[in-house]
Amino acid sequence: MVVISEKLLLARNYEGENKKFIGEESRPKFHFSPCVGWTNDPNGFSYYNGEYHLFYQSNPYDTVWDSMHWGHASSKNLLQWDYLPAAMAPDEPYDSDGCFSGSALSLPGGKHLLMYTGVCGDLQTQCIAMGDGKDYEKYERNPVLDGGSLPAGMSRNDFRDPKIWREEDGCYYCVAGSRWEEKEAGRGGLGAILLYKSPDGFSWNFESVLVENDGRFGKMWECPDFFALDKKHVLLCSPQDMLPEGLEYHNGNGTLCLIGEFDRDKKKFLFEKHQAVDYGIDFYAPQTMIAPDGRRIMIAWMQNWDTCDRSGCKDKKWFGQMTLPRELSIRNGRLYQQPVSELMDFYSNCVEYRDIVFSGERELAGIEGRMIDMELSVRVKDNAEPFKEFAVRFAQDNRYRTVLSYRRYDSVLNLDRKFSGSRRAFLHQRDCLVTEKDGKLKLRIILDRFSVEVFINDGEQVMTATIMTDSAAKGISFFAEGEVVMDVTKYDLF
Ligand code: FRU
Repeated sequence: MVVISEKLLLARNYEGENKKFIGEESRPKFHFSPCVGWTNDPNGFSYYNGEYHLFYQSNPYDTVWDSMHWGHASSKNLLQWDYLPAAMAPDEPYDSDGCFSGSALSLPGGKHLLMYTGVCGDLQTQCIAMGDGKDYEKYERNPVLDGGSLPAGMSRNDFRDPKIWREEDGCYYCVAGSRWEEKEAGRGGLGAILLYKSPDGFSWNFESVLVENDGRFGKMWECPDFFALDKKHVLLCSPQDMLPEGLEYHNGNGTLCLIGEFDRDKKKFLFEKHQAVDYGIDFYAPQTMIAPDGRRIMIAWMQNWDTCDRSGCKDKKWFGQMTLPRELSIRNGRLYQQPVSELMDFYSNCVEYRDIVFSGERELAGIEGRMIDMELSVRVKDNAEPFKEFAVRFAQDNRYRTVLSYRRYDSVLNLDRKFSGSRRAFLHQRDCLVTEKDGKLKLRIILDRFSVEVFINDGEQVMTATIMTDSAAKGISFFAEGEVVMDVTKYDLF
């Protein structure tokens, strides 16, 4: 029998009593939102006992970040989640200031292992809990990694977010983020990803500094994930304090994808390519897992520390959502993302148009809606002057609209959510450099009640943003400066 601490019981009771005050309509339909209160990073995304499990950084008591618990949910299809009681509360001396981010794994013996960061004062250590998919017991020998497990010169105050996996050799590995202490000449403050190894998931040894930040990608690197994909290795992380590089990285908290080779002898990751993971506004702290059929699936916080517009929270008892789970692959040296194929099981009302030629404003009968999956393909008309601009406006009525516009001459796709329900002067626009493929730009736009995700050119790039537009604003219209040829396919979702 797992003993449930008073703090965890309090959180579970609070969740149980308060989730009923959140109406179904005031939540996203198929994007995960917390049971009650605040969420940031997805944690412990895993497949256990025939179901997907998602844990999340949670403060159940308010819609602001505070003492971190692990909220918990499970799903059979990655889109419809059932809330489970909170899995962990900050109830031990080593995690009394928070159970920070971490990951999960099924153990061969049938238990579910959680590895997370315990925070106590300004010290961060890595800890373990074991459970059965509902109740979790913290390991009596926590922490399993502390300051003594760090190479000299690495910060004990920023040492967090372990991502665990098991290799074919039967051993367990994890990566965690840290940074060089400020006094380290030349690299003080810069992030590094540390690799650890364990024979059983409980006793851990330092292996190497897997890869480090040379100062090009922000400072501290949070929430690392490291995995093999399509004959390459990929490191995902969320750097803090990024400087932009052209349109590739955004200022502030960003996400970074490094693609390269893992030198197992030297225990070093050598990256050949780098790119942003998402080019929109609200995306941070992605985490991946392997589905039973072998797909590598990523989910992320559909929010960003720099863009938390909580002005819409007043009459909501939740804040923070997760992105759609996305299937990952590597094509032509780039990370591609596609919404999980399970989404297609929820399609209805297909409306399709082929070879629509237009300029100026255009609406199309049957093309509207706020929970939709819509694919557009636009191209220049044969033997005609190339169009200058194309735009699609959605979540639209006479007060609201969200706009995706393509300035063909400078290859820039712009997402603008100025008129999408925000009453604050937060960041509302992003630009993304795009490339037409075979003379076409393809845009797959997925709308839920409070978000838009745009998959560009079959997932070569993605732009993600939250919106707060009134649900009644369902209109969709198109605009072109010059003649555009367009195909449209739209499905309603759920
Ligand atoms: C990333 C992060 C993690 C940390 C968690 C705390 O968003 O800062 O590094 O573990 O959030 O809630």
